[in-house]
Amino acid sequence: MKKLLIIGASGHGKVVANIAHDCGDWNEISFLDDDLNKVGSSLIGFNIIDTTANLELYIDDYEFVVGIGDAYVREEVTHKLLEMGAYLSTLIHPSAVIGLDVKIDQGTVLMPMCVVNSSSTIGLGCIINTGSTVDHDCELGAFVHVSPGSTIAGTVKIGSRTWIGTGARIINNLSVFQDCTIAAGAVVVKSINSPGLYIGIPAREVIK
Ligand SMILES: CC(C)(COP(=O)(O)OP(=O)(O)OC[C@H]1O[C@@H](n2cnc3c(N)ncnc32)[C@H](O)[C@@H]1OP(=O)(O)O)[C@@H](O)C(=O)NCCC(=O)NCCS
Repeated sequence: MKKLLIIGASGHGKVVANIAHDCGDWNEISFLDDDLNKVGSSLIGFNIIDTTANLELYIDDYEFVVGIGDAYVREEVTHKLLEMGAYLSTLIHPSAVIGLDVKIDQGTVLMPMCVVNSSSTIGLGCIINTGSTVDHDCELGAFVHVSPGSTIAGTVKIGSRTWIGTGARIINNLSVFQDCTIAAGAVVVKSINSPGLYIGIPAREVIK
């Protein structure tokens, strides 16, 4: 009997649970959440059974996925799970389109209607969100989040933990550094070589 534990019972975790449900691969889907007020309740029909303080009780019996949107927290929890020997699942919604020769690392979630085209590589713990596209020969580092409806053209490299905002676009053959935020609706037309917040069309760094 396959059982899945999702870490984090919030908005993102809820969508991850929905995807796991649609995949139909698990007999049980439950949450862990560190908010004690949530433990014992349920979210869209899936039980929140415990906090992560008791993770070791579940390591051998469950597969895991981290349902936390913040890249830094997702990274920390993912590494903790791996150190404890947890099995990290990759969740791919049945409506996602994946090209040939695509590599997807563990702990990554591909949401409904997204597309990852031929020969792209998606790193550990990434989120390829609803209706986003990652075209051919892209390389996404660990914990990258491609938000709903954003477009990554072909042969783009994106560094670890970078967040591509909803509706943002990155033209082909560019690199985007690690630890960047690309604002919603921005259009990246030149490579980005340092961490920071990039806003607008064309996207420019904004120092807050
Ligand atoms: C860019 C972003 C990170 C800035 O957030 P923030 O630091 O809280 O910034 P604020 O909301 O205080 O806005 C600061 C200024 O930037 C402007 N701004 C914010 N987001 C912008 C965007 N996407 N494009 C253009 N301008 C933007 C605001 O209008 C404001 O301008 P002002 O100072 O002239 O009033 C955020 O607006 C954003 O785009 N986040 C992405 C959200 C997303 O894609 N979520 C998907 C979840 S799955």
